[in-house]
Amino acid sequence: MTDAVVFDHVTKVFPGREGSFTALDDVSFAVPDGSVAGVVGTSGAGKSTLIRMVNGLETPTSGAVRVHGRNPADLSTSELRELRRQVAMVFQSSNLLETKTVAENVATPLKLVKASKSEIARRTSEVLEMVGLSDRADHKPRQLSGGQRQRIGIARALVTDPTLLLCDEPTSALDPITTNQILDLLRNINEELGVTVLIITHQIDVVARLADSLAVLSEGRLVESGPVAKVFANPQHELTRKFVDTVIPPELDGSARKELSRALVKNYEV
Ligand SMILES: Nc1ncnc2c1ncn2[C@@H]1O[C@H](COP(=O)(O)OP(=O)(O)OP(=O)(O)O)[C@@H](O)[C@H]1O
Ligand SMILES: [Mg+2]
Repeated sequence: MTDAVVFDHVTKVFPGREGSFTALDDVSFAVPDGSVAGVVGTSGAGKSTLIRMVNGLETPTSGAVRVHGRNPADLSTSELRELRRQVAMVFQSSNLLETKTVAENVATPLKLVKASKSEIARRTSEVLEMVGLSDRADHKPRQLSGGQRQRIGIARALVTDPTLLLCDEPTSALDPITTNQILDLLRNINEELGVTVLIITHQIDVVARLADSLAVLSEGRLVESGPVAKVFANPQHELTRKFVDTVIPPELDGSARKELSRALVKNYEV
């Protein structure tokens, strides 16, 4: 299997008045094409900085990121524009334009690349259908619930037919039930459309449900990575264990632990 994204010894140092700050320190891992990869870490661990390197919003101080074999930092403006058609992003707050309609919001990325009117109309209705909100096309964002707004954010991300979807805490602002609906939608997008998903979150149950692989960041360092089932069954790092403890009580052991893990984790047996 080829890799959609490779983080190759990525380090990011932000200069500051009171000295520089290392936000990412020698991070290496890969996201196989067609898979769902989760990155967890506490606040300030460097998750957003890492994901922003994938579409060239941030560049490493040393090391490199390769996206379908290409380094965003090496691309010309027009090549970067093309890359951003392939690499879409979903944010924690859906970042919708409040004065535009739902359909206009969804169409924005296609307008930016000067797609034809007919393509815009066709794709907008396709992706609204995909997220189950065709009947809201003419509404304004403020007429939608948080979960619906997030669906529109996802529709807008899908409109350019991306191969890779970056999700920066897409469910942190949602209630647990709406969270599950959004996760089901992301899973469908991965399975039906074959889109690779890189999702960052501080909720490990989100990763467990959705992801094939998991990377754990602590203060800019990658402390653990591997298949979700393996990491859950046998967390190596203290921080990973603490994350797993939030969804599987540490006092639970033996078959009960296994049963619960099987219920929580996608592909627990494989
Ligand atoms: N442009 C910047 N200049 C200076 N420091 C920055 C910059 N961007 C991020 N940082 C610092 O880098 C660290 C990592 O930030 P980042 O936003 O990647 O964390 P995060 O894991 O996404 O956190 P959260 O879960 O709170 O979103 C933080 O300490 C932050 O203050
Ligand atoms: Mg963040």
